[in-house]
Amino acid sequence: MQTDAVVFDAYGTLFDVRSVQQETEQRFPGHGDAITGTWRRKQLEYTWLRSLMNRYKPFSGVTRDALVYAIKSRGLAPEESQIDDLMSAYLRLTAFPEARQALEQLAGRQRAILTNGDLPLIEPAVKAAGLNDVLDAILTVDTIRIYKPNPQAYALVTEHLGVDAQRVLFVSSNPFDVVGATQFGFRVAWIKRAGGQMDELDAKPAHTVETLTELLSLVD
Ligand code: 2OP
Repeated sequence: MQTDAVVFDAYGTLFDVRSVQQETEQRFPGHGDAITGTWRRKQLEYTWLRSLMNRYKPFSGVTRDALVYAIKSRGLAPEESQIDDLMSAYLRLTAFPEARQALEQLAGRQRAILTNGDLPLIEPAVKAAGLNDVLDAILTVDTIRIYKPNPQAYALVTEHLGVDAQRVLFVSSNPFDVVGATQFGFRVAWIKRAGGQMDELDAKPAHTVETLTELLSLVD
């Protein structure tokens, strides 16, 4: 089946959420690794909890709340300026080294991001990484106020790009996202970053790759 669009998750897939580790360590010596890990885990948990509770808050707010939790979980009392600094670091997350080349290789099809991130968080990161010109669209769940893996989030792709679900290759490193996108009807490539383990949630990815540049062989 022809591929009309390749759609990427942002955080953990195109952008390395662990790239804030160094700046976290500078502010909280000895705690950088633990804070960074808890920050991401709680960030995701809060999106799911907020969707279940019908208490949507944009991802930038959720990310800030998760950071406060992560710092407090180490017995530390964060100052507002420390939180502001680390939130700024999130606007300049490092893209994975092969991201640009992979997006360039996929020219000729629609290339988009579908993210839980709201535009004030994701747009600066895309710009800072120099990926604007290799993306055709940034779709965010902020427009519908419910987070992935709710099916309404994946429907943004078919609605906004005007493509059939079967003709979308969806790419994510996040197992919950792989499951949600597969169940929606996309063909999904799981990018298995170090230590990744697929969830036991009744859906498996069509493809498993280790780098984004392998995607080209999946679209022709
Ligand atoms: C995303 O970019 C949260 O990684 C997830 O949507």
